[in-house]
Amino acid sequence: MAKGVGTIYVCQSCGKQSPKSLGKCPACGEWNTFVEERARAVPKGAAARGSLQGREAQPVAFADIESQDDVRVSTGITEFDRVLGGGIVPGSLVLIGGDPGIGKSTLLLEVADKLSASGRRVLYVSGEESERQIKMRGERLGVEARNLYLLPETNLESIFAEIEREEPGAVIVDSIQTVFSSQIESAPGSVSQVREVAGRFLTFAKSRGVPVFLIGHVTKDGSIAGPKALEHIVDTVLYFEGDRHHNHRIVRATKNRFGAANELGVFEMTGTGLKPVANPSEIFLQERPENAAGSVVMVSMEGTRPMLVEVQALVSSAQYNYPLRKAQGYAEGRLALLIAVLEKRVKGYNLREKDVFINVAGGLDIDEPAADLGVVAAIASSFSDAPLNGQTAVFGEVGLTGEVRGAMQAQARAREAQTLGFKKLIMPASNAEGLQRLLNLRAVGVRTVEEALRELF
Ligand code: TYD
Ligand code: MG
Repeated sequence: MAKGVGTIYVCQSCGKQSPKSLGKCPACGEWNTFVEERARAVPKGAAARGSLQGREAQPVAFADIESQDDVRVSTGITEFDRVLGGGIVPGSLVLIGGDPGIGKSTLLLEVADKLSASGRRVLYVSGEESERQIKMRGERLGVEARNLYLLPETNLESIFAEIEREEPGAVIVDSIQTVFSSQIESAPGSVSQVREVAGRFLTFAKSRGVPVFLIGHVTKDGSIAGPKALEHIVDTVLYFEGDRHHNHRIVRATKNRFGAANELGVFEMTGTGLKPVANPSEIFLQERPENAAGSVVMVSMEGTRPMLVEVQALVSSAQYNYPLRKAQGYAEGRLALLIAVLEKRVKGYNLREKDVFINVAGGLDIDEPAADLGVVAAIASSFSDAPLNGQTAVFGEVGLTGEVRGAMQAQARAREAQTLGFKKLIMPASNAEGLQRLLNLRAVGVRTVEEALRELF
């Protein structure tokens, strides 16, 4: 392409623009992400005015704005409603990401079915599959909706022409990377295109009060392909977590303007689609080995829901001079820190010449401080080859001096452990006070890691 007016280079990872191509992006640090794109033409129409309503915006008195919370629309799929924060908010723009084949199209087709069954016109725009393919999937899922319309189209302008005609009550776009605007010269899926497309759907969703779901592909490192920028535009970001090798699927809200971030929905992939799992703790503990050293049950808060999860550790003699510290479903930096605390603050745990592996069972990603004590306990258990009592669960944050710190929602966690039949709960002392009276299980408050390990073994 000749270097004409308006040729720019755009980082495909974060959207940083530069007049010349760069090897390393100065904004996000990624390598070889700059791609030549044409500068955006000055937009015409509503977008040029910069208002979300599609007309000139006027200031509105705060008191006069109607509250929206009562108008959430249930999808009829309990776990999906839950990740959204209690149903669909009209006019919301939701991005759903996940690995290929994990179930994005399946989930959204089920949502489309349920929404159209409640009387809404739903438009399912597909740039990836033909109507036939979608129909076949739909038959498998038992979709019988009359109000569901499929549109195999990738041109943004044509899609909006169709939307104007059909006036749908909900729109699903599968996937955003396949849709392109002919007003922009860059290839579909590039940062400029994806941003333009998302921007157009944002204006549409907000001005008409129609919910829009965008399916997004993810890259190798698990972020939505191309634009981080996309996550800032949308109201809600949902990710399929874990991998395809489990039957269950975890959908997590990593951002939600209308509900708790980190909220989880758990589904099971069956021969006839994704089915909500009412009690995820049971699923995550299902295959727990009995009397095995290195296996610990911890109580984690995922969004607003407490969940019991098995964490496993394997401590073995280091194969190399440099010991390995690997974790699946848990941050490796945090793991290294916990190993250092255990070594320094508790006598007898010499882990310098040991490889340490951590695995959170069930493909869950645990990312909360209160998981620390579970990880430490699992390492200690594997190190000394001492299995824990199968009816004991733990939670608590571990500090650098080896202290066990309080966690939020201690009562909800304790109740979940009790519900699942656990008899003993090792938890932060600061949380344990007063809890005993409420529970049938023995809540043991501990102040330090050393104390916790003494209680456990
Ligand atoms: P799909 O929704 O096409 O994934 P994505 O859109 O995220 O790429 O899901 C495809 C997988 O799900 C495929 O491996 C088949 C499986 N599947 C079932 O097990 N049961 C079903 O009822 C359906 C529709 C799909
Ligand atoms: Mg798909």
